Amino acid sequence: MQIIRDIAMLHRAVTALKQGGRSVALVPTMGALHDGHLSLVRMARRVADHVVVSIFVNPTQFGPNEDFAAYPRDEARDAALLVEEGVALLWAPDVAVMYPGGHRTHIEVAELGADYCGAARPGHFDGVATVVAKLFNQVRPDVAIFGEKDWQQLAIIRRMTRDLDFALDIFGAPIARDDDGLALSSRNAYLSKDQRAAAAAFPKTLQAAAKAIAGGADVAETLAKAEAAIVKGGFDSVDYVALADAESLERLTEFRKPARLLAAARIGKTRLIDNWPVG
Ligand code: PAF
Repeated sequence: MQIIRDIAMLHRAVTALKQGGRSVALVPTMGALHDGHLSLVRMARRVADHVVVSIFVNPTQFGPNEDFAAYPRDEARDAALLVEEGVALLWAPDVAVMYPGGHRTHIEVAELGADYCGAARPGHFDGVATVVAKLFNQVRPDVAIFGEKDWQQLAIIRRMTRDLDFALDIFGAPIARDDDGLALSSRNAYLSKDQRAAAAAFPKTLQAAAKAIAGGADVAETLAKAEAAIVKGGFDSVDYVALADAESLERLTEFRKPARLLAAARIGKTRLIDNWPVG
């Protein structure tokens, strides 16, 4: 696996990978890889001839009081995992390469980024959309794969890709979960043993609420009950539990398809997100 940190070298390496009409899939990550990321890499291998993974802890998607400095980083471990998965190229630019002095441009996907995680993390999705657009231009993949765990992020990236005519396909990969149902996340590493045990209440509550709504239960009542159950399960607070149109992300007060239950909750200093299909 080639590890590349320079844009001109990246262009040469991707051009070589694409020779003979071969296709390239990009899996953008911020490192701290776990089985969830590896499931994206495996999907990428199924749909393209070569896989490029990017590792870049993107400062512009973290708020001033968030965990940018503390975000887990272990490139050697990540690279070893990617070699085992048959990844052709690891794109690992540093901040000065991604955002050279004088960088002034950012992308805002209007409305889709304002609610849910966007409300709790102002500017977060502008940072995500901007870096993903840059990664698309840098790597020029035929396909890019994102996890469905960040459902709002995936919807925003799909919209941006259509709006800006990026010539690639976006694939969403199903959420990888631990045995007790907790969605795999790099941030699970922050949880103490007790918090980790309590965190299983989160997906269980969402699953039950999604089933109730699909079965005709009152939406507002079910969401309120789910919030209370998450706190009772050991979480300190709930940012939101919402029923959303799965594509436009519009909040729904009554069930109609396609719908998705979206949620974020805090346990100790850790903020976890998850989502569940409804119906
Ligand atoms: O989902 C992530 O890990 C990040 O938001 C992404 C898409 C790599 C952009 O920094």
